[in-house]
Amino acid sequence: MATTNKIKHKKTPLFNPLFTVRRKRPQEVVPVILETGASEDYGLIDSGHKRKLERYGSYLLIRPEGQAMWQPNLDHSVWKKADAIFTGNPDKQGMGRWDFPHSIPHETWPLFWKKLPFLGRFTSFRHVGVFPEQDAHWRFIEDLIQQATQPVRVLNLFGYTGLASLVAARAGAEEVTHVDASRRAISWAQENQKTANLLDKPIRWICEDAMKFVMREEKRGKSYDLILLDPPTYGRGPRGEIWDFFDSLPKMIMSCQALLSSTPLSVIVTAYSIRISFYAIHELMCDAFTGFGGKIESGELILREEKAKRALSTSLFSRWII
Ligand SMILES: C[S@@+](CC[C@H](N)C(=O)[O-])C[C@H]1O[C@@H](n2cnc3c(N)ncnc32)[C@H](O)[C@@H]1O
Repeated sequence: MATTNKIKHKKTPLFNPLFTVRRKRPQEVVPVILETGASEDYGLIDSGHKRKLERYGSYLLIRPEGQAMWQPNLDHSVWKKADAIFTGNPDKQGMGRWDFPHSIPHETWPLFWKKLPFLGRFTSFRHVGVFPEQDAHWRFIEDLIQQATQPVRVLNLFGYTGLASLVAARAGAEEVTHVDASRRAISWAQENQKTANLLDKPIRWICEDAMKFVMREEKRGKSYDLILLDPPTYGRGPRGEIWDFFDSLPKMIMSCQALLSSTPLSVIVTAYSIRISFYAIHELMCDAFTGFGGKIESGELILREEKAKRALSTSLFSRWII
């Protein structure tokens, strides 16, 4: 896949309509549905009544799922086997409480992605340290890096517990830079690096506001071949910097474009629980990558139910690929 052609891309000044009007938009592929099915590591067992039953390694979890307005497919006796049930606190977005009908010995438990070990953890949030639908992105970047004919420098923004960073490092990236504003997320990611026995891999763990980081890298003339960003709707940097998806994303995508090396591979954006269509992110990517060649694929990430085969959409994505 990765060609060695050096791209002499003229970095597009922000929002200059003249540039976008004259220059050719990349090839556009919409919609693209990236699907994650059941595996030995994870499975969407059932869903319905605004909840989902999932298998994370050896545990069965029940978590709220607003989209699952339909009827559950399986008998209640299957749901009763759940090891942990998360109940959201309506006053605190994303926070809540885990109940353990059958006692759970540990706060963390072993999980795997394609034999890469990492840790699941019960916290006061509904997330347990991994977004299984990102499997589609991990497979994509693993292939890109393994097939690259040049050393690959990866930037993983809003990297959370580091799965994408570990996947990239294991696949042979020359250097991985992982940025997240949460010290807790960075520590968990470093724990995952140790659990995965990848301590010898060149990963930089940076606890920083993502926008501040990319602006500084741009000033320093740093560049990356593969950039992933998976921002929240709203977030704060370690020093209170505000991340607001609608205000910040256009500038962030342009800055990521400006950080691309002369041998770029891809820029991948994912967006969760946000009231927009993937077309909106698609158009932002077209703005940024007009004149760069390559193609832009945009659509949704979905989980496919193990038995009933129903699809549960989890997030939107758009990716520019050389
Ligand atoms: C949706 S999660 C990312 C999930 C991750 N991509 C994955 O696949 O595991 C969003 C992350 O953004 C981080 N975050 C929030 N605001 C931030 C900011 N201003 N700068 C950097 N990271 C931020 C949060 O700590 C959280 O880990």
